[in-house]
Amino acid sequence: MDSPIQRYLTHIHEEIARIKDGEPASYIPALADVDPNNYGICLATVDGYVYEVGDTREEFTIQSISKPFTYGLALSDRGMAAVDEKIDVEPSGDAYNEISLAEGSGRPSNAMINAGALAATSLVKSAGPYSRSRRILNMFSDFAGRDLAVSERVYKSELAHGHRNKALAYLLRSFNIIETDPDPVVEDYFRQCSVLVNCRDLSIMAATLANSGTNPLTGEDLLEIGEVERVLSVMTTCGMYDDAGAWMSSVGMPAKSGVAGGILAVLPGQVGLAVYSPPLDAHGTSVRGIETCQRLSDDMELHFV
Ligand code: DON
Repeated sequence: MDSPIQRYLTHIHEEIARIKDGEPASYIPALADVDPNNYGICLATVDGYVYEVGDTREEFTIQSISKPFTYGLALSDRGMAAVDEKIDVEPSGDAYNEISLAEGSGRPSNAMINAGALAATSLVKSAGPYSRSRRILNMFSDFAGRDLAVSERVYKSELAHGHRNKALAYLLRSFNIIETDPDPVVEDYFRQCSVLVNCRDLSIMAATLANSGTNPLTGEDLLEIGEVERVLSVMTTCGMYDDAGAWMSSVGMPAKSGVAGGILAVLPGQVGLAVYSPPLDAHGTSVRGIETCQRLSDDMELHFV
C-alpha cells in the first residue's frame, strides 16, 4: 500500500507530465539527443527515506548542478577567505554564461554563473594520486552515496563546442583570478558538468546539503556546517541566475538547475528534492522541474522564508 506522500507525488507527476512546453538543450549535439518525455521526481528525507516517481533511474549529465558542490570543495580545500578573494557572493542578475566580472579586479559575481564556477574549479586541489577532476568526481560520488562516472561523449562534445567557456577561462587568467594554465581548468570544468547522475542521486545530494553535509544514507560527513551554510546561501541568491528572485518568491528553497534538465532544491533540516525533465525555459531551467517544485512547495509548505 502506497504512503500518502507516494500517492501525492504520483498524482502531481501525472498532472505535470501533460505540460509539453520548452525544448531540450541543443548547444551541443550530445544533449539534444534525449527523450523529452523523460520525467522523474525524487524526495529524500534527512533520515534517508527516498520517495520516487517516474524516470528516476534515467541517467543524464549533472551540468550546472555541479557548481555548488565544486564550490563547497574549493571552500573546504582553501578556506572561506581565500575563495572569497577570487569569487564574490553577489547575485549577478545575468544569464549563466554572462561575463559578470568586477571592473578592475575581474572577480566573478558568484560561483553559480560559469565565470565563478570556472574559478571555483581552479581552486580545487589535487591530492597525492588524485587529480583535481578525480577529487571532484569522488566528492560528487560521496554526496550521491554511489560511484558516479563521467559521460565521455558529453565531455568531448562540450570540449569541442565550449568556446565561450574557454574564452571566459582565459579572461579570468588575464585578471589572475585563475592563477594556472586555463586549458586544464576548462577541461576539468567540462568533466564536472559531464558527470552522469539520475534523479535519485540528485535527491540524495540535496538531502546531504539539507542534513548539514552528512550523507543520510552512508553517514559520511562531507562538508563542515559553515561550508554548507555558505553553499546554500549562494544557491539561494544566485542558483537560478537571472530567475533567482522569481524562484525564491514562488518556491522559496535554495536550488540549482542544469541544462540537461535536472533541478535540485534543498529544505534545510528536512528534505532534498530533485526533478528531471529535459525541456527547458529561456533561463535554461527545466519547465516541468519548475512547475513540480512550485507545486510541492505550495502543497507541502516547503517555502522556508
Ligand atoms: O558550461 C556550460 O555552459 C554547461 N556545461 C552548463 C550550463 C548549465 O547547466 C546552466 N544551467 N542551467
